[in-house]
Amino acid sequence: MSDHYHRKPLETLLKEAGDQGEGTLVRRLGAGSLVALGIGAIIGAGLFSLTGVVAAEHAGPAVTLSFIISAIGCAFAGLCYAEFASMIPIAGSAYTYSYATMGRIWAWIIGWDLVLEYAVGAAMVSISWSQYLNKLLQMHGMHIPTELMAGPFEGGIINLPAVFIVVCMSLLLARGTRESAGVNSVIVVLKVAVVLLFIALGWSYINPANLTPYIPENTGTFGHFGWSGVLQGAGIIFFAYIGFDAVSTAAQEAKNPARNMPIGILGSLLICTILYVLFGHVMTGLAPYTEFGGTHDKLAPVATAIAHTPYIWLQQGVIIAILAGYSSVILVMLLGQSRVFYSMSHDGLLPKVFSDVHPKYRTPFKSNLLFMVFVSLFAALVPGKVVGEMTSIGTLLAFILVSIGVMIMRRKMPDAPRAFRTPLVPLVPILGVVVCGAMMAALPWDTWLRLVVWLAIGMWVYFRYSVKHSRY
Ligand code: ALA
Repeated sequence: MSDHYHRKPLETLLKEAGDQGEGTLVRRLGAGSLVALGIGAIIGAGLFSLTGVVAAEHAGPAVTLSFIISAIGCAFAGLCYAEFASMIPIAGSAYTYSYATMGRIWAWIIGWDLVLEYAVGAAMVSISWSQYLNKLLQMHGMHIPTELMAGPFEGGIINLPAVFIVVCMSLLLARGTRESAGVNSVIVVLKVAVVLLFIALGWSYINPANLTPYIPENTGTFGHFGWSGVLQGAGIIFFAYIGFDAVSTAAQEAKNPARNMPIGILGSLLICTILYVLFGHVMTGLAPYTEFGGTHDKLAPVATAIAHTPYIWLQQGVIIAILAGYSSVILVMLLGQSRVFYSMSHDGLLPKVFSDVHPKYRTPFKSNLLFMVFVSLFAALVPGKVVGEMTSIGTLLAFILVSIGVMIMRRKMPDAPRAFRTPLVPLVPILGVVVCGAMMAALPWDTWLRLVVWLAIGMWVYFRYSVKHSRY
């Protein structure tokens, strides 16, 4: 039994990083680049799609409060991530950190759970991508038939455009296309420009009547408006912040990580929070929140909101920018997924197929292709709301485990060097657990059921396969 808690030695981790060529990474990212990296991975479907879902079904104009609650939970978890990232400053993830600090079984649980964050998250963004693509086509007098825009649970057959973008991004990854810092910066500038433009132009067209009452009265069902709706909304809109943890994976490339990692993680979080709250305010001010609930329009609320301004001509440019922005988020998530499974497979916890590297492209191409199928199935058949909630609950669980990990690590390895120390331990990690836990608790019970089923499958794989093949 004790084997389950065996920790992977830090020296082994650092040696492997060298073997994988990661030892050659140079410390060239300053605070500004790290913040840009974070924003590039953060702004996507959460903001441009789920804001509409949360406003229409849970919080009304108080979607802004959902954004704030969610940001507080992320900030606590972010401080914990920063300590891990500075303590084990190699390219990695929550999986790697937990293997070194909490032992194999916890590493497994986090690694398995991260599939919900990365792979299922990528499916969510692709579903929203298809909605915006359809909007764009509609502007040119074309449209994709309903049957090919939604899965069987929403009256269609398959969400074909979502599959298309997943396949494109997976093939790009398998070919080894890496986003250069330059491309990332261009996309970040584009995305932030769209958000600022929307806020600036929309502000003067806000109709105060749309914002009253600010927190619509609860309908009698938990999570449908009122404060429970705001809280449930926070758990769903949490999706919009996912990605700031991506900054921690660049720890090895950060200049002066003790100073710059926290700035990168918390700075990108702060900037996004401000943008999100203003964006949510303008969006629900432009149109009555009920308008964001139409069956097929609800994942493209920006177009609905712009239609209430004289700037309809802007819609096309905005949508093209959103589509480009989504592609990079999908790419980063699929990349994160293949990295986590690569490490797990390398440690023997998963079959070798996930760490087989293509002789020419030097990518885990088989893993990329397997996830292309897995993510495509989700994107093709499952409703966006379900996929988004699964991503949120999975990531919230990872954040909670990372927060607990920081506390365990302080007890077990009190003297290990830490370039950045989470302030006020154990208060900050405990608050991280409480706020993220509250958001998890507010998510619908069927989302919980899916999480439990997913983790149960994970434990089955762990005991049937991983325990027997583990290298450590
Ligand atoms: N935060 C990312 C998004 O909103 C995942 O698309």
